[in-house]
Amino acid sequence: MARKVRKVVLPVAGLGTRFLPATKAVPKELLPVVDRPLVQYAVDEAVEAGIEQIIFVTGRGKAAIEDYFDKAYELEDQLHTKNKTSEIESIASSRHLAGNVTFTRQQEPAGLGHAVWCARHLVGNEPFAVMLPDELLHDTPGCLAQMVDAFERTNGNIVAVLDVPREHTNRYGILDPGTRDGQLIETKGMIEKPQPAEAPSTLALVGRYVLLPEIFGLLENQTRGAGNEIQLTDAMARMIGTHPFHGYHFEGIRYDCGDKVGFLEANVAFALRRDDLKDRFGEVLDKYLAD
Ligand code: G1P
Repeated sequence: MARKVRKVVLPVAGLGTRFLPATKAVPKELLPVVDRPLVQYAVDEAVEAGIEQIIFVTGRGKAAIEDYFDKAYELEDQLHTKNKTSEIESIASSRHLAGNVTFTRQQEPAGLGHAVWCARHLVGNEPFAVMLPDELLHDTPGCLAQMVDAFERTNGNIVAVLDVPREHTNRYGILDPGTRDGQLIETKGMIEKPQPAEAPSTLALVGRYVLLPEIFGLLENQTRGAGNEIQLTDAMARMIGTHPFHGYHFEGIRYDCGDKVGFLEANVAFALRRDDLKDRFGEVLDKYLAD
């Protein structure tokens, strides 16, 4: 029987330079999509997937993320005093049992593989998930819940993938696919940010992983790859052949919130899904589209 996936690692040390000046003083993971910080969507997706422990790999200037996941005692007291029940409910998902949200720091920007390795002691010897909160994935059930379900069947590594235009392969980790069984794609290899002509497919890694703890030993001695960084993709590629490895074809909607247009699209899409906003916001959009 597959061991339960109880922990998620969220690498949030990146500087967010694409969103300057907003990210000069606010971590990009706290930028709101409608009225919830981006990182809250990832945490909700993790909780839905049965994850119990949330491990953040942060860096300098990211302390606001710790505050966000803490109890805001004075705020809550004020809201209670004023009977603001819906506001109290709105902050409930940022509150977790003490000890279930932990933070460690990546002391240098040495790449995603290095960020995940920084969490090795907090994860220990058990399978775990990795989520990149920039990638906002919308589906029911959520992408990670689907992947955990797939993990329970395959008992091996799973990475979420989706099709991208061939001219974009150099932005992503790209899968070398074998046989496909429904949404599961046997994985023969993977390569980080290949040029379109060298890409083995157009199936891109999209920021959701369920990994066996053996990855930490490989990350330990992983040499630098694309962008002169320690790449998670390179360490994962070295696991193929020794441990089961599958791509999981995500069939929901993806918003690339690391990109300005993707972030704006997510705001429009999530606002239009909200009963309290869709009519008024729809009218506003119509006004702009008519011009
Ligand atoms: C990272 C990963 C890459 C993945 C991408 C998804 O790249 O290294 O494999 O496809 O996230 O967003 P980054 O965007 O950090 O350069």
